[in-house]
Amino acid sequence: MTPAALTGLDLLATAVILVDTGGVLRHMNPAAENLLELSHPHVVGQSIAEVFADHDVLAAALDYARRNNCSFSEHDLMLAVSGRPRMHFACTVTPIERSSTFDVDGCLVEFRQIEQQLRIAREERVFDQSVANRELMRNLAHEIKNPLGGIRGAAQLLERELENPSLHEYTQVIMKEADRLQALMARLLAPHRMAQPAHLNIHEVLERVRSVLLAEYQKEISIRRDYDVSLPLVFGDQEQLIQAVLNVARNAAQALTENRTPAGQITLKTRAARQVTLARKRYRHAIEVSIIDNGPGVPADISERVFYPLVTGRAEGSGLGLTIAQDFVSQHNGALSFESAPGHTRFTLLLPVAESELRTGIANGATGTNGASKAH
Ligand SMILES: Nc1ncnc2c1ncn2[C@@H]1O[C@H](COP(=O)(O)OP(=O)(O)O)[C@@H](O)[C@H]1O
Ligand SMILES: [Mg+2]
Repeated sequence: MTPAALTGLDLLATAVILVDTGGVLRHMNPAAENLLELSHPHVVGQSIAEVFADHDVLAAALDYARRNNCSFSEHDLMLAVSGRPRMHFACTVTPIERSSTFDVDGCLVEFRQIEQQLRIAREERVFDQSVANRELMRNLAHEIKNPLGGIRGAAQLLERELENPSLHEYTQVIMKEADRLQALMARLLAPHRMAQPAHLNIHEVLERVRSVLLAEYQKEISIRRDYDVSLPLVFGDQEQLIQAVLNVARNAAQALTENRTPAGQITLKTRAARQVTLARKRYRHAIEVSIIDNGPGVPADISERVFYPLVTGRAEGSGLGLTIAQDFVSQHNGALSFESAPGHTRFTLLLPVAESELRTGIANGATGTNGASKAH
């Protein structure tokens, strides 16, 4: 390819590869390197059969486009790249001829990842919904909080006037319940801003959560760590993140102990994530924290609503743990989601890493916590 054509392809935001008539990969633009997680020097010069495990459909699309000399779109292309899980793509194959633009005969293949498009659309919907929910919740909490003070005060006055002490039982109920509601509302109205944002090591957050849970559930559960010690620092409020992860992990511990799961185990896992869209913004790098348990799973009847306030599957539950966790995570421009089946529930917290954070240091090196712990 001529340098001009190369630059043109490299500037495209869509993932494009160039395959010659012999089925050899001749070029791959940076968007394709990102999407396929391949690096140009490693794969250029290899045949598509070497690069992709399931290349039959792609090979057939290339063949069709070339034989008919027309552009061809394949909407259901499953490709596995060098041993990684298969990804679902749509692709458009366009034949090209050796010319002043391209110095080979072959095809340009443009890839679009289908699941990613669907996922982004779904995440945007969830994001809009959760912003609206939080707004509604806070307004409602305000409206409930104000009259509560009046109700409590009146019950107190009434109690003083009551001659028969056995009636105090009733005024006490009113006051205690008003206090409980007031505490609940205070939690819903917790400050919205991050108190003390700083560069922090996500593994320190997880270690704090781990020690709290171990103290609470000493012999009943085990906690495994599976940390990627090369992660960069994140910018955020340590206390908020601890509270968010603790709310999620405590639910897992409760599910395990209440269900008496044999060999109940929670895994705290960290990994680097690439190319994620969070709150409509695209980040090249993010940190993925997973809290996995082998308990009974989130009850099916509430699984669509677990992040809503006051939704609980437990008799003693407040239904605020996950609402607050999601609120704190959104304040970090992150996302909290889950997938659950009996025996395997996984809550995933994604936190964006700004480019500047990448230069600030890695999560292990900066503070030297336990980090060395790989898969305990
Ligand atoms: N890891 C989990 N395994 C099973 N159920 C879960 C898990 N995490 C959350 N849940 C369900 O989600 C519900 C809501 O959780 P949460 O918002 O923390 O409120 P609460 O813990 O007060 O009930 C829980 O009551 C429980 O039924
Ligand atoms: Mg909870």
